[in-house]
Amino acid sequence: MEISTLAVVGAGTMGQGIAHVAALHGRSVRLVDVSEAVLQRALQTIAHNLERQVRKERITATQKEEALGRITPATDLEAAVADVQLVIEAVPENPELKAQVFERLDRAAPPEAILASNTSSISITWLGARTQRPARVIGMHFFNPVPVMQLVEIVRGLETSDATYETIYRLAEALGKTPVTVNDAPGFVSNRVLMPMINEAIYCVMEGVASPEDVDQVMKLGMNHPMGPLALADLIGLDVCLGIMEVLHRELGEDKYRPCPLLRKMVAAGRLGRKTGRGFYEYA
Ligand code: CAA
Repeated sequence: MEISTLAVVGAGTMGQGIAHVAALHGRSVRLVDVSEAVLQRALQTIAHNLERQVRKERITATQKEEALGRITPATDLEAAVADVQLVIEAVPENPELKAQVFERLDRAAPPEAILASNTSSISITWLGARTQRPARVIGMHFFNPVPVMQLVEIVRGLETSDATYETIYRLAEALGKTPVTVNDAPGFVSNRVLMPMINEAIYCVMEGVASPEDVDQVMKLGMNHPMGPLALADLIGLDVCLGIMEVLHRELGEDKYRPCPLLRKMVAAGRLGRKTGRGFYEYA
């Protein structure tokens, strides 16, 4: 099945990026969120990010306008997904919230539609089991900033069918991304490897081993990472990082996944990174 019409549910950072890339690659996109105001801000951000690509001569001004024209904002989830071939869910990383969204999507989307989740840590098998169509449930995990990052981690749940997998694999390629296939397991591959590194960097700060700037400098200049782990944690969101560490700790049970107390403290204080203007760094 070739996907030409899809819905993206959740117009936060990831939903915006996914809608941006899908529309730029010719797909007709319904962008769904709970409020008009959130959707209007999302469309402005998408326009701004498309404009960056125009300025860099990656795309033309016409391609930008065509892409924007393919995105339809919607607040009525049921109506928005009634005739799509695929839904990509990108709501906040809260298991029960995602499960409830999947139950609603299962009732409202056509029976043959695929339901994909951009979750970074929640079990695809578990989400699939909340629907009547577990064979058509799959993980499609994008990376921030979506227009720039090459990878899509394709996560196969226990019941995900070969047909669903092949459709989504081909779609990821058609969106200009490089898909990598992983089986459903806590944190998949990306966050099982990335988050313990970020957590360890936070321990280094908490224990006074080095300042956030110096920890990041070590990883940038010594390991050639494009940004240090603490700047990256601020980009991802410290609440998201904590949520993923909690999943790893709970599901895999080993002490090496224990969230750093400083991470917990910063989340409790509302220092969530870029989105709140303050994390390990301050943002204007
Ligand atoms: N939309 C479109 N283009 C964008 C963009 C956006 N949102 N953000 C950046 N860009 C473009 C810039 O215009 C620029 O384009 P050119 O290459 O054509 O010049 C390019 O991306 C690089 O941007 P900048 O020059 O502004 O800055 P930079 O060179 O420092 O790169 C970065 C910024 C791409 C974010 C880079 O620092 C980087 O790759 N960081 C690591 C990001 C990362 O690891 N992301 C994964 C997070 S984990 C995750 O998302 C999943 C999860 O489950 C937690």
